[in-house]
Amino acid sequence: MLERAQTIDVTTEPELEIQHVGQTFARPSGNPVVVLDDINLTLRTGEIVGLLGRSGCGKSTLLRIVAGLAPPTSGEVRHRGAVVHGPAEGIAMVFQTFALFPWLTVLENVQAGLDAIGIAEAEARQRALQAIDLIGLDGFESAYPRELSGGMRQRVGFARAMVVNPAVLLMDEPFSALDVLTGETLRGDFIELWVAGRLPTKAVLLVTHNIEEAVFMCDRILILSSNPGRVAAEVTIPLPRPRQRLSSTFRDIVDDIYSRMTAGPVPSTTCEKHAAGMAGIATRLPPMSAMRIIGVADTLAAPPFNGEADLHDLAMRLHLEGARLFRLAELTQMLGFAELHNRTLHLTTAGRALAEEDAVARKRLFSDHLLRSVPLAAHICRVLDERPGHTAPRRRFVAELEDHLSPEDAETTLNAVIEWGRYAECFAYDHMHRRFSLENPT
Ligand SMILES: Nc1ncnc2c1ncn2[C@@H]1O[C@H](COP(=O)(O)OP(=O)(O)OP(=O)(O)O)[C@@H](O)[C@H]1O
Ligand SMILES: [Mg+2]
Repeated sequence: MLERAQTIDVTTEPELEIQHVGQTFARPSGNPVVVLDDINLTLRTGEIVGLLGRSGCGKSTLLRIVAGLAPPTSGEVRHRGAVVHGPAEGIAMVFQTFALFPWLTVLENVQAGLDAIGIAEAEARQRALQAIDLIGLDGFESAYPRELSGGMRQRVGFARAMVVNPAVLLMDEPFSALDVLTGETLRGDFIELWVAGRLPTKAVLLVTHNIEEAVFMCDRILILSSNPGRVAAEVTIPLPRPRQRLSSTFRDIVDDIYSRMTAGPVPSTTCEKHAAGMAGIATRLPPMSAMRIIGVADTLAAPPFNGEADLHDLAMRLHLEGARLFRLAELTQMLGFAELHNRTLHLTTAGRALAEEDAVARKRLFSDHLLRSVPLAAHICRVLDERPGHTAPRRRFVAELEDHLSPEDAETTLNAVIEWGRYAECFAYDHMHRRFSLENPT
């Protein structure tokens, strides 16, 4: 068993302090939205802390604030005692996908960050080569991004963060765009370097959707609630490393966190219910095609699952990374084709029908569930129905969504519903003219 070279040091100044951080965004309609409320977190030397929470609860927003990329509305962030104003030396970030410069080689991509902060060429090159070596890209120095696999490109992303010797490393779902096996390899490699004390980094803040990933990597996990994002619970992971995913203690911790995350409060007051209804139309939806969703029902219905599957087994079968599968499972549940209980996805009666019906009946069933479960889809149909020509421009809905979502999320959400609505023939959409119309207006 590996011994931890990094031990959590509570005697020195914390690496990072997040104190009473809040973030409120203005909306075009004038009603501001509180995304983060009174977040407090101290990150000590030697710690990996995870942030778990549902989509849209503000995890990336918090990470951007910590990185100094956006100022909080209230509260402050301190790095080794000094308040963070703007990008801080000593704090680096790894994103879900890295925007590598396609015209630069691996070495040049890694070195670019150092050139930007004025490190002399010879030293920059030396440090870039070391980072490349450390992160397992030895031999790929002169390759171009397009010649690399997704996993290798993400290693370049890690090397680019590591080359500045950051004391604090922030990671925003760094493994979720990778396939299952690549994600596992990269996570394992990272932890090995961490345990061996070979990374320059003293503390890590990891955002993830993936409970198993959080339990595998973190010393401590904070669970954020949604609307507004608050710290709802804190869980310490006392397991030695390397951690055994199949051990019963590991599974128990995963189950415990899963039940805490799904035990969300139900809106109680009329005002909260109204807010939930308004937000219903603007519920963020991930880009998953109708065929992907139907594929889950098909796979669940067939042997060896015969109606229910452990999420981990399903991820392996569908070649999907855990976090993406989790979102897909949530969507399948939202549409009423499956139910998620303690990491097991169960096919519902409707889900079984979806898997067994012919193409025409599938479309009809999908359409029924779409209109019933996705308020935005029903809303688009209603608007089209009411309009004299039964058509409406895309910008009409974008403007409405931007009252609740960032412009980027509004686009992604609308695109997801367009794909499902077109498949289900609830409405038609003309990409060229960016207009919706009713498929068969009566
Ligand atoms: N610049 C912005 N202006 C307005 N709203 C924003 C802005 N940035 C984020 N939001 C909104 O804040 C909320 C939280 O977004 P954020 O991206 O932090 O969530 P998240 O927890 O990272 O979600 P995910 O797990 O899907 O990545 C969302 O409703 C988003 O639309
Ligand atoms: Mg995010």
